[in-house]
Amino acid sequence: MLGEAGIFVAFEENSRQITENAATFGWDLPALEKEKLFFLDARMSPDMVMSGGFDLNGMLASIVSKAEEIGATRVVFDSIDVLLTLLDDPVAKRRELYRIRDWLSETGLTGIMTLRASNDTKYIEDYGFMQFMADCVIVLNHSLVDHVSLRGARIAKYRGSQFSENEFPMIIGPRGIEIAKMDLSEPDYEVFTERVSTGVERLDAMLNGGYLRGSSILITGAPGTAKSSLAGTFIEAACKRAEKALYVSFDESANEIIRNMTSINIHLLPYVRSGILRMYSARTESRSAEEHLINIRKVIEEQQPGCMVVDPLSAMVKAGGHITALGVAQRLIHLAKSKGMTLLCTSLLEFRGEPFSEATEIRISTVADTWINLSYIAKGGERNRALSIVKSRGTRHSNQVREMILSDEGITLADVYTAGGEVLMGTLRWEREKAERRAEEQRQMDAERKRIELELADSEINARIQSLKRELEANRTELKRLSVDEAAYERDETQRLADLQGLRRAD
Ligand SMILES: Nc1ncnc2c1ncn2[C@@H]1O[C@H](COP(=O)(O)OP(=O)(O)OP(=O)(O)O)[C@@H](O)[C@H]1O
Ligand SMILES: [Mg+2]
Repeated sequence: MLGEAGIFVAFEENSRQITENAATFGWDLPALEKEKLFFLDARMSPDMVMSGGFDLNGMLASIVSKAEEIGATRVVFDSIDVLLTLLDDPVAKRRELYRIRDWLSETGLTGIMTLRASNDTKYIEDYGFMQFMADCVIVLNHSLVDHVSLRGARIAKYRGSQFSENEFPMIIGPRGIEIAKMDLSEPDYEVFTERVSTGVERLDAMLNGGYLRGSSILITGAPGTAKSSLAGTFIEAACKRAEKALYVSFDESANEIIRNMTSINIHLLPYVRSGILRMYSARTESRSAEEHLINIRKVIEEQQPGCMVVDPLSAMVKAGGHITALGVAQRLIHLAKSKGMTLLCTSLLEFRGEPFSEATEIRISTVADTWINLSYIAKGGERNRALSIVKSRGTRHSNQVREMILSDEGITLADVYTAGGEVLMGTLRWEREKAERRAEEQRQMDAERKRIELELADSEINARIQSLKRELEANRTELKRLSVDEAAYERDETQRLADLQGLRRAD
């Protein structure tokens, strides 16, 4: 990788065996052997050693000339203990090891000696001093947890350099030996106030607009409570915004997930085809959680998603136990936060009588910013799904339990009814809603009837007023006419009297 040449001195295996072993990890040593790598088969027969003059001088001299020939800067003495077991005398063993050390400092080569570690007294007597002799001591550890192989590397000593004393998970794969990075710095992430949709309108409202961008979300629930479905809507919503997304699934293939989601109107295939969405699925038991994380990290680097799902994160427990799973979960969350990614993980809760047991085992719930729990409520001969937000940091969220309804149209949330302290869902809720709707319809009908009656009475009164007005008008007209007639009559009478007096010449 660094382009430096090296010599591999093998005391236990021949070069063919080493090449073959390396090939099982996908490493092509023969390609390197042409110019950068030289194998020295240093296996010795006991007779040779016993015959007396055994020392490494001859071999070291041949390594120097080979190193000069290929320009090697590094040399590995693999399984040096195999060679030294042939020497009975601890003093002779020491002499040979110091010989190598002195030779290294003379030649300026960087040397690695590997030997098996053991706690038995004989071993410590023979090789314990090496801890003091070497400049750097790395202790490798290999264990099995739940039948899953876990490797770790720990630096026990490193002269003239600072180092972390913790054991770090290590994996061996096609990309070489990888040590899980542990960022021991204080968490300091960019924080966002923007909300990203959950993909379910009503859940957005319950969360005051959705999940906070860059936050981590945990969805827990028993099998089949629709954890993946909620993860699916979240991812689909991201794709609809043309935001790059990644869906990591364990033990369910991408095709299965895409098909299953279609049943609830979530369509991921077009986004997979366009590259907006990357589906990555893995078999849990095939690798340790650390290896899974390394692979996921690689996919993240390739896809650069803004939103990501790990479904279910609890599968990690099967890949090396709780402590490893927790470490992986924490580092995954850290990775997501440092990249400003919104990460949604699902976690399977097994029925154990006590709620949230599995989640507390994995303890990711404490690191997650939002925790949504899905559960079943069985009543009235039905099993219905309930959704509740257990917590959501920095969010004024609803504390109400909602019924989650899956249908061909998608996911909807409905209010649950409480009657006499009992939660009603499904058909019982539907019946309650129907009864309430009926009562409302009845109330509306009664009100309508009353309104019509009053309007009728109103118009009747109005009609009566109009008719009385008309009568009043007629009366007034009649009255007017009468007074006009009376005045005319008066005038006529006065005239007639005047005429009469005129005729009689009366005064
Ligand atoms: N069209 C549909 N209408 C109603 N319900 C549906 C429909 N399609 C699927 N379902 C229900 O959704 C469930 C699947 O939900 P989902 O896969 O999201 O659950 P899960 O919690 O992820 O399950 P698991 O624990 O197995 O991973 C199915 O078991 C089925 O009951
Ligand atoms: Mg699922």
